[in-house]
Amino acid sequence: MHPLANPLSDRRIVLCVAGGIAAYKSVELLRLLTKAGASVQVAMTRSATEFVGELTFQTLSGHRVFTDLFDNQQDAEIGHIRVADGADLIVVAPATANVLARITAGMANDPVTAAVLASRAPILIAPAMNVNMWESAAVQANVETLAARGMYFVGPEQGFLACHWIGAGRLSQPAEISEAAAQVLCPQDMAGMKVVISAGGTQEALDPVRFLGNRSTGKMGIALSRAASRRGADVTLVHGPVYSAPNTGAANVAVRSAQQMCDAIVHAQNEADLVVMAAAVADYRPSVVETSKLKKEHFGTSPALALERTEDILATLGASRVGLRPYLVGFAAETENVETAAMGKLQRKRCDMIVANDVSQADRGFGSDENAVELFTAAGHRSSIALTSKDAIAHGILDQALLEMEAQKP
Ligand code: CTP
Repeated sequence: MHPLANPLSDRRIVLCVAGGIAAYKSVELLRLLTKAGASVQVAMTRSATEFVGELTFQTLSGHRVFTDLFDNQQDAEIGHIRVADGADLIVVAPATANVLARITAGMANDPVTAAVLASRAPILIAPAMNVNMWESAAVQANVETLAARGMYFVGPEQGFLACHWIGAGRLSQPAEISEAAAQVLCPQDMAGMKVVISAGGTQEALDPVRFLGNRSTGKMGIALSRAASRRGADVTLVHGPVYSAPNTGAANVAVRSAQQMCDAIVHAQNEADLVVMAAAVADYRPSVVETSKLKKEHFGTSPALALERTEDILATLGASRVGLRPYLVGFAAETENVETAAMGKLQRKRCDMIVANDVSQADRGFGSDENAVELFTAAGHRSSIALTSKDAIAHGILDQALLEMEAQKP
């Protein structure tokens, strides 16, 4: 398993909950972090306990909740130091205006601010408050100060607030906070890089209700996009219809047809460092797209469809590239002669790497959470990644691409 495949696994996280109505969302955040394999210790301010019971966090985290700085029952005096010392990451969610001010001032008069002050671990803050409070000069100055000290922020998002105002101030979604936590724990070895990734299948319309499609679910491309975002890249994910939520850390561009995908990728790849074509792009589309629904009579007794070629996006990028950028990665889903087919595609499409997989086996490839692939590069590298999660495969592909891109530098 690649060490970055699940950055939250076996990490010790202190989840600091301040007293805002959004505290209820921290319960879901705790569940997501523990589900990802993190060991989570919760610290709460006294007012947070007014919104969510300590027992809820205790039951879900499997650890005693830290609610009082000086409580003999809780190993008192040095409790906050011990909690802070052992942490790999501190997440403050929700962070109220009051808690932000106290963190900025270096106060430590409750379990949340004490854990933040006493820790050397990275600190991720998810603010939540009324829009006017968020936009106030005082809060903005505090956020700026804390960001300058190296603390990370996620949100707040725009929306309908509990105080009935509409605007910025809503706590980010738990999945987004958990994703930001994963990113903070990943090395940022792709920071400053622009990456374009395609995912999913395409749909080629026959008429307003029917299309030709394929079985791609988009999981591999989404895993690649997530991996590159976590490693700090600026990612654009161009995706056809997909079966899981696209990456929250990327700019997502939804398309349907091969032509739309081609246009979006050609547009996005301007100045890109890396393009990965993980999408299952249709090779053919109906020659004619009817404007009204085709009736059975149209087809007669032996129906035949006239098809025409779509543009080969990867080959177009390979042929039009000036110099060595973007580094181009293609996929080859094969059912036989995997190596010969992959080597042929590497040359024909003038790309730098082909990721080949054998889709004849049921436990991998299309729709599955796992895959086993072979990497073939134009620089002569060859390796196999045995059956593992698509997240682990994504990081393995990025590792090899980064290695070769580094070697190409003058
Ligand atoms: N691809 C593309 N544009 C297309 C078709 C494919 O960019 N119109 C990309 C895919 O995203 C993938 C790679 O090319 O990265 C290989 O696709 P595949 O369809 O397997 O390759 P072909 O050369 O079409 O070979 P085959 O005869 O196996 O279909």
